[in-house]
Amino acid sequence: MPSSPRRRILVTSALPYANGHIHLGHLVEYIQTDVFVRFQKLRGHECVYVCADDTHGTAIMIRARAEGRSERELIAEMRSAHLADFAGFQVAFDHYGSTDNPANRRLCGEVWQALSSKGLVITRDVHQLYDATAGTFLADRFVKGTCPRCRAADQYGDTCEQCGATYAPADLVDPVSTLSGTRPEVRSAEHLFVTIEALHGFLAEWTRSSGAVDPRIANYLAGHFLGEPLRDWDVSRPAPYFGFEIPDAPGHYWYVWFDAPIGYLAATAEWCEGRGQAFASWWGRGGAGTPAEIHHFIGKDIVYFHTLFWPAMLEAAGLALPTKVRVHGFLTVNGQKMSKSRGTFVLARTWLDHLDPSALRYYYATKISGGIDDLDLNLDEFMAKVNADLVGKVVNLASRTARWLEATGLSASYPADGGLFAQAAADGTEIAAAYEDGDFARAMRAIMLAADRANAYVDAEQPWKLAKQGPEAAGRLRDVATVALNLFRQIAVYLAPVLPGLGDMAGDLVGGPIRSWDESQTPLAGLPVAPFKPLMKRIEREQIDAVIAASQAAAADQKTTSGESPMETTPTTADSGEPLAAEPLAATCSIDDFAKIDLRVARIVAAEEVPEAKKLLKLTVSLGGDTTRTVFAGIKGFHEPAALVGRLVVVVANLAPRQMKFGLSEGMVVAASGAGATGVYLLSPDSGALPGMRLH
Ligand code: MSP
Ligand code: ZN
Repeated sequence: MPSSPRRRILVTSALPYANGHIHLGHLVEYIQTDVFVRFQKLRGHECVYVCADDTHGTAIMIRARAEGRSERELIAEMRSAHLADFAGFQVAFDHYGSTDNPANRRLCGEVWQALSSKGLVITRDVHQLYDATAGTFLADRFVKGTCPRCRAADQYGDTCEQCGATYAPADLVDPVSTLSGTRPEVRSAEHLFVTIEALHGFLAEWTRSSGAVDPRIANYLAGHFLGEPLRDWDVSRPAPYFGFEIPDAPGHYWYVWFDAPIGYLAATAEWCEGRGQAFASWWGRGGAGTPAEIHHFIGKDIVYFHTLFWPAMLEAAGLALPTKVRVHGFLTVNGQKMSKSRGTFVLARTWLDHLDPSALRYYYATKISGGIDDLDLNLDEFMAKVNADLVGKVVNLASRTARWLEATGLSASYPADGGLFAQAAADGTEIAAAYEDGDFARAMRAIMLAADRANAYVDAEQPWKLAKQGPEAAGRLRDVATVALNLFRQIAVYLAPVLPGLGDMAGDLVGGPIRSWDESQTPLAGLPVAPFKPLMKRIEREQIDAVIAASQAAAADQKTTSGESPMETTPTTADSGEPLAAEPLAATCSIDDFAKIDLRVARIVAAEEVPEAKKLLKLTVSLGGDTTRTVFAGIKGFHEPAALVGRLVVVVANLAPRQMKFGLSEGMVVAASGAGATGVYLLSPDSGALPGMRLH
């Protein structure tokens, strides 16, 4: 393979917000970026992967207040959690900073200075909703009310989820602050703006012709933003705000989206420090040496910030522009948006408690093609694919051949293999091109074809038969196993960006650590082979069920303890349409569908706390006679256990039992919950009903 000149590549992922934990959606991005980075390093390029926590803004401030602690305490805790999650998924940053770091404050000041000195900063009065009870201006997401267009209730202050309208929070029909539940007032405050219209020509040209932006995205930008004058960008927030105070505008803070991308610069600067690296060699323009490439990996929701505001800031500050903005779509699970109640809103931590991270890395790699389409984690397909490909094809190749070489090691020279190694070595060019394009799905397909050919070879040579033939077949057996193990190691090299663990284990088995892509080009011979250790286990259905159950339980816990909806219900004579609007009716079902669900009256005969679960009570319910069931119900905090004993409830009596962390749950107690209130309300039959009666 022609060796390419050594490139200098700076790679970033979007900075995760410090107000939440890493979940499987985030991991689409971080795993994807990490694979790209590991690939570049394996190819021998100088590649640096930086990221940071995005720490500022109203959401963090409010959450810290609610938890009665300082913002800095909160972000420190989140940082450790994020780092642990990333390490668990083998996402290996070269540096992980924080937007709250001094380097970021300094660089924000420098970019600000550049914008100001070019006359790009102006001051203007803004009318914004103010919560007098909470003493703060309200970000759009902290205001809810009725959509001015379609009248749907309970919509956020920026867009209506029902009809898609966008508006200002003050346009809501009956705005309510989600912080205090009171009606906010309109106040005027001075804000600072960047007049990015001055850079319109530059942005139109850059998005279209620099090669940094996918043409589909360039078209979208042209159609939605660049076809008319660009609106001034509001980059300041008045106190109180958790962020950096603007040096020449006391009482004003940089808006979180101003300081967040500058976090890319700050993280690079921190990485350079102490390594004898010059920041300017990465982010400067021109200068000596190989110019650096800059690749930003981001989700499609933040395209606008990365292809308009960010390049505008870099241009104004005279810094290097991104080489490529690599945009990906959103994760769905089993074809639907991740859902807390369905248990498909899975935190990184929850996954790590039950499943192998490399299985997810591989599955995502088979789904990521470098485009902006959403990608689906289908849990059945996930299990089937990982078991068939990684366990059945890749690991199997080693597990059924390595043992024949434990005593003798590899053959002294690489045997004839019908051209298999050479063919897979030639495939390396195409596999590398696919990785470079971000089309990991294409790379995985090519690799699995090589694995299929290798397995077909082993099937045809039948080493287990040779082993039975005694000494005269020993040489042939050694050769066959030598070929198989080389083909295995070759595949491990190609998969190393996705499965660093597999690469390490392949190295332990034979040939030492995989350090370079070029190791896929030359077969090994005459080396010792270590005893085979199982490299990866099959995924079992129970592990997936456990992840879903744990995610459901965690979501239930959170709902009751975090006081997520501090809005109070307004007493009205007529019932509000809010609960129904918030959870529209399910699809029509037949009477037969309904008959499948066996609802029974039951009496609670025992109730106790589950100390480890914030949300759960353990109930024993009687269906009459000797028939009792244990049920874990997410009602802790709403009901005193002692007060429940003796009371009649409704249970789903034929629900498949479910193993939970705390024991087996053998049914479900029916309760109501929904928008407009924070409680969970148990259902009771009229008096006279008896345990065991069926609901029809
Ligand atoms: N803090 C901003 C980014 C600032 S960059 C200067 C942010 N943070 S985030 O935590 O909400 O998201 C981090 C990245 O994860 C974003 O690129 C986002 O698109 C991505 N994802 C978050 N949820 C996702 C899915 N469900 N699916 C795929 N990617 C998702 O945005
Ligand atoms: Zn609407």
